Amino acid sequence: MKITGNRRLGVNIDHVATLRRLRDTPYPNLLQAAREVVAGGAEQITLHLREDRRHIVDADVWAVRKETPVDLNLEMAATDEMLKIALELKPFSICVVPEKREERTTEGGLDLSNHQRNETLKRIAHAAREKGILVSFFIEPDARDVAVSQELGAQAVELHTGSLCIAHQAPQGSPQRERLNHEWRRVREAVTCGVESGVLVHAGHGIDYDIAAELGAMSDIREFNIGHAIVCEAVFTGIRAATARMKEKLGL
Ligand code: PXP
Repeated sequence: MKITGNRRLGVNIDHVATLRRLRDTPYPNLLQAAREVVAGGAEQITLHLREDRRHIVDADVWAVRKETPVDLNLEMAATDEMLKIALELKPFSICVVPEKREERTTEGGLDLSNHQRNETLKRIAHAAREKGILVSFFIEPDARDVAVSQELGAQAVELHTGSLCIAHQAPQGSPQRERLNHEWRRVREAVTCGVESGVLVHAGHGIDYDIAAELGAMSDIREFNIGHAIVCEAVFTGIRAATARMKEKLGL
């Protein structure tokens, strides 16, 4: 599968489902949110079907796949249950993520140092690619992990930008802020490694409106997947305008 074309924004609307889950109400309507995000210019909807179904549930991924006229990117743990769902659902892409039950959100990239786990990742990548699904691995911005992802069969990597964004948000003079240059270096090196080895480079996690322009200026990043900041902005402007504003900040 040869993927070309424009740079893209995927909007992760898990937190619309988080609001629904808070009271177990039928609202807010996830499909309506997906349609608004599309109207705001998103090229893709990203959903994380977690093993504990804490926000997105199975019916959501099917509804969005069938009813939304843009690509669906399914974030999923490397398990047989999720692989089975992905192969039936046939989203445009999957992004394989590490998943821990106790975490608030995906806290780091995949650990690619374990041979047995890597064999599972390889099997998942192979099975999904056979169905024509684009396979991405969510990894730390680390050149070695880019290379290992490619070896295991991923066509794309999504670089975890969480540490970079935390450093960027931290107050001047704080220990976290001191890491900012280091975090930018890590991301730049991983992007370069991806480009040189022919792996598609995506980025996601923690991206807010303040860092979007700088990240968007990195023209080798083909896709951004952004959720929390857009849903937060939607409280004030609605999710359509929040999406459009993020696209504009990214320069897409
Ligand atoms: N990409 C991946 C792989 C994620 O796990 C998440 C969070 O679910 C995101 C992107 C979006 O992160 P955020 O909600 O911080 O923008």
